[in-house]
This record gives sequence, C-alpha cells and structure tokens, in this order.
Amino acid sequence: MALTLDTYRLLGRSGLRVSPLALGTATFGTEWGWGAERDQARKLFDRYTELGGNFFDTASTYTNGSSERLLGEFARTDRDKMVLATKYSTLRQSGDPNSGGTHRKSMLASVEASLRQLNTDYIDLLYVNVWDFRTPVEEILRGLDDLVRQGKTLYVAISNAPAWQVSRMQAIADLRGWSPLVALETEYSLIQRTTERDLIPMAREMGLGVVPYSPLGGGVLTGKYSRQDQNPVGSVAGETAGNRKSLNAALGWVTDRNLAIAEAVKEVASELGRTPAQVALAWTLNAPGVTAPIIGARTVAQLEDNLGALQVDLTPSQLARLDEVSAISLGNPHDVLASEHIRTITTGDMKVETLG
Ligand SMILES: NC(=O)c1ccc[n+]([C@@H]2O[C@H](COP(=O)([O-])OP(=O)(O)OC[C@H]3O[C@@H](n4cnc5c(N)ncnc54)[C@H](OP(=O)(O)O)[C@@H]3O)[C@@H](O)[C@H]2O)c1
Repeated sequence: MALTLDTYRLLGRSGLRVSPLALGTATFGTEWGWGAERDQARKLFDRYTELGGNFFDTASTYTNGSSERLLGEFARTDRDKMVLATKYSTLRQSGDPNSGGTHRKSMLASVEASLRQLNTDYIDLLYVNVWDFRTPVEEILRGLDDLVRQGKTLYVAISNAPAWQVSRMQAIADLRGWSPLVALETEYSLIQRTTERDLIPMAREMGLGVVPYSPLGGGVLTGKYSRQDQNPVGSVAGETAGNRKSLNAALGWVTDRNLAIAEAVKEVASELGRTPAQVALAWTLNAPGVTAPIIGARTVAQLEDNLGALQVDLTPSQLARLDEVSAISLGNPHDVLASEHIRTITTGDMKVETLG
C-alpha cells in the first residue's frame, strides 16, 4: 500500500505523530568529509517538508555542530510543526572526561548546547546516543525525566544500547512514573539484521517505536559498491564519493556477503522497475515493529529516489528471496526455542498462537 510523508505514525507508546521516513541530518554540513553544503542541505529540508515530512534526526556532535545549527535555522519559521530529535552522550571535547557519557553532567551540557545550536526553546525527542557502560540506569532515567519536567525535551528515547538494559530501564521508568522511552534508534537493514534477535522484539514488547538508521548500509545497498571498494583508498570510486566509501570500508560494510545482498536487491528492483535504494528502504520500512527509517541523503536526487520507497510493494516471493540472502542465525536461545523439539515439549500437538 502506498504511503506518503504525511501518513503519520504514532511513535512507540506515545501520541506523537511522525512521518514514516525521518530525514537524517548527519549530511548537513561537510565537516565530516561527505555531507552537503548549506544550500544543498536547505534544498533537502525544503523538499522533505514540502511533502509533509516532519521528523528530523540530528545529534549535538554531528558535523561538529553544523547539523544542528543548519537544521535549527531551516526549521525556525515553522518550528512547532517540526519534530526535532537530537542525541547526547558522545564526546564533545577531548581531554574532558565528562563531556561525553550518559551521566547527568554530560546530559545537561549537551542539551544546553543543542538548544543553542538548534536555536529553540525545546527539543521534541532526546535520545541517549551511545551506552557508556558506566552510569547507573536510575541516574540516566531520572536525569531524562527532569529534562521533560523542565520542558527542555518533550519525549525521551535511546539508541545503541543492550536490549536487556533498555528493557530494565523501561520497567523502572514505568514503576516510578518517570518519562518512558518512546523510541529505539538502531541500525537495521538487509545487511544488518542482528537487531532482530533481541532489540526489535524488546522494543515491540516495551512500547518503543523502532527508528532504523543506515537503512542503505551507508550506500552499499544502492548497488554502487563493488569488491574494489573493500579498500577504496586512492581508488577512483573513493575519490568521487568523498570519504563515505572509506568510512563504509572501515566499518566492515563492504563484504562479499553484503555485496551479494546488494545484488539480490538489484534484481528485485529491476523486476519492479524501481531503484535498489527504494527496494532496500521499502524492506526496512515494512519490517515488523518499524516506525520510521531515517533517510541519509546527500543530494536532492538521492532524497527523491529514497522517497520512492513509500510506493514500493514487495511481493511475498521477493520478500522470501531477500530474507534468504540476508538471513542470520538468531543465536542462543532463539535457535533452540524455535526448534521442533521445544515446540513439542511446550505446546505438544495443540495449535497455540504466538503473542504479538
Ligand atoms: N544513532 C546512531 O548512532 C546513528 C548512526 C548513524 C546514522 N544515524 C542517523 O541516520 C541517518 C542515516 O544514516 P546513514 O547516512 O548511515 O544512512 P544510509 O541511508 O545507510 O546511507 C546514506 C548514504 O548513502 C548514499 N545514498 C543515499 N541515498 C542514495 C541513493 N538514492 N543512491 C545512491 N546513494 C545514496 C549517500 O552517500 P554517498 O552519496 O556519499 O555515497 C548517503 O550519505 C544519519 O543522517 C543520522 O541522522 C544515527
């Protein structure tokens, strides 16, 4: 069924209405070597909002602050219609151990910096960006709740954290009457499905909307990568696409397995008369539990291409082929629990439906 950017979805267990594709703004600014200059970023913002898009993703440290500054500048005229999501916890100043991390001091300093950079009185959605394995969960939750009570953020959420910690946090927030986590931002695509083991089932059970990042595997799923890009330094392709190819190679995304998945995506795209980017995005968009994947466009042409995913309907046989080529082992205990033996000893011959 065709969707549009103004077919809004509720974010997790909240009443907040967001577009089914968010606009990632890590490409706003060129400080990281592969983004868009101001004018191009403005065009991305204008086109997305013109079509009813309202959900933006940034972080206090993206492109050294340019991402938030540009987003704030563009959103200024219609601020209250926009859902601005930002994040804290990544290091802002080397040499200062408290400028990063999930603790209160880093949280407050980062939020104040975001409010200044975004030039706004409030953030709509504040994510814990990266788990630091050091801060007590009560400190994080109570700190986030204080920010909500102060009106500095309306909702709180989390990204890049172990499923068991998020689940525990949500239970504590519920029992104490603190602001619940309403979203889980997590890497999820045809090349990154390990999120299906615990994170996505946890999010569905605990009321967090899933907001996938890197749905194109940094561009690998667009079909423009080849084995040459496994080590792009000095290659022609590496030079034409800036540092993104080097980054993707460094992240280990340009593997034989991932190139085979990209090939299968290309085949499905040609059957449908669509582009590989649209097919890969449509797969993530329509995956169970997903609220809104984040688009990472650098140009307006890429944005237009990616928005075409809203109109893609994958057939059951195409979904099955994509599922097969990208399959992962769920690992323990899921593989054991899915076995015939366990099914027999838990439900016997009875037909018992699964919850959710
Ligand atoms: N929470 C987190 O920790 C976290 C982490 C990463 C990202 N994010 C968020 O998620 C957003 C998206 O992540 P991402 O940039 O990794 O997403 P992605 O969609 O996997 O990759 C985007 C990149 O692919 C290329 N591309 C995009 N559309 C294309 C098209 N139609 N055809 C050809 N190439 C295309 C562009 O790179 P080139 O043109 O340079 O090849 C673009 O920068 C970010 O902006 C950020 O807001 C969050």
